[in-house]
Amino acid sequence: MSTSYDLVTSVTQDDGREVFAVYDEVFGDQPDQTAWRRDVWDRHARREGFRVARAHARGRLLGFAYGYTGAAGHWWTDQASRVLGPVVAGAWLGGHFELVSIGVRADARRRGTGQSLMELLCDGLPQQRWVLMTTADADDPARRLYARLRWEVLGPGLRDGQVIMGRRR
Ligand SMILES: CC(C)(COP(=O)(O)OP(=O)(O)OC[C@H]1O[C@@H](n2cnc3c(N)ncnc32)[C@H](O)[C@@H]1OP(=O)(O)O)[C@@H](O)C(=O)NCCC(=O)NCCS
Repeated sequence: MSTSYDLVTSVTQDDGREVFAVYDEVFGDQPDQTAWRRDVWDRHARREGFRVARAHARGRLLGFAYGYTGAAGHWWTDQASRVLGPVVAGAWLGGHFELVSIGVRADARRRGTGQSLMELLCDGLPQQRWVLMTTADADDPARRLYARLRWEVLGPGLRDGQVIMGRRR
């Protein structure tokens, strides 16, 4: 089965529906698609620097990764500044690329799809500093993926069991 990848900077309603199907299967933390669109996706998709990398096989979305330019005044950036403290936050936050989410369907993992999505999403990024939040469990597949791609832990995340990671271009 061959996988095709693309990177887009604007999305349609159908694109959102397709991403939600994978998001919901992978994370399952939203009440429904309407709430996810209203509270998360539609707001994120309007942000400066928004881009989403997608992996398809036989017309089915296998995985996605997306982010945008983070800035002071965004809820997450402001909370991250608080937990990282002024020195680290000053060095990393504001005008950074914020990798918001990556997910690959369970039946499509361990074939390099996650790594290809990360590489495509970050390819040619203009931002010098890239930031994400993830689990504090260094043995989690996501953490192994980020470590392979040279991301480093910057400090604690917003909740227990999380860390914020960064990478310079
Ligand atoms: C994290 C995640 C996106 C990785 O996706 P993936 O497609 O499995 O990623 P990859 O295939 O690139 O890498 C995963 C593993 O498969 C291995 N792999 C890659 N190609 C392979 C192949 N052809 N054969 C065997 N193993 C392979 C990689 O070396 C890696 O091994 P490791 O975890 O032991 O280091 C996926 O596990 C996921 O969606 N997890 C749930 C959501 C999540 O945690 N998201 C991040 C939140 S911050």
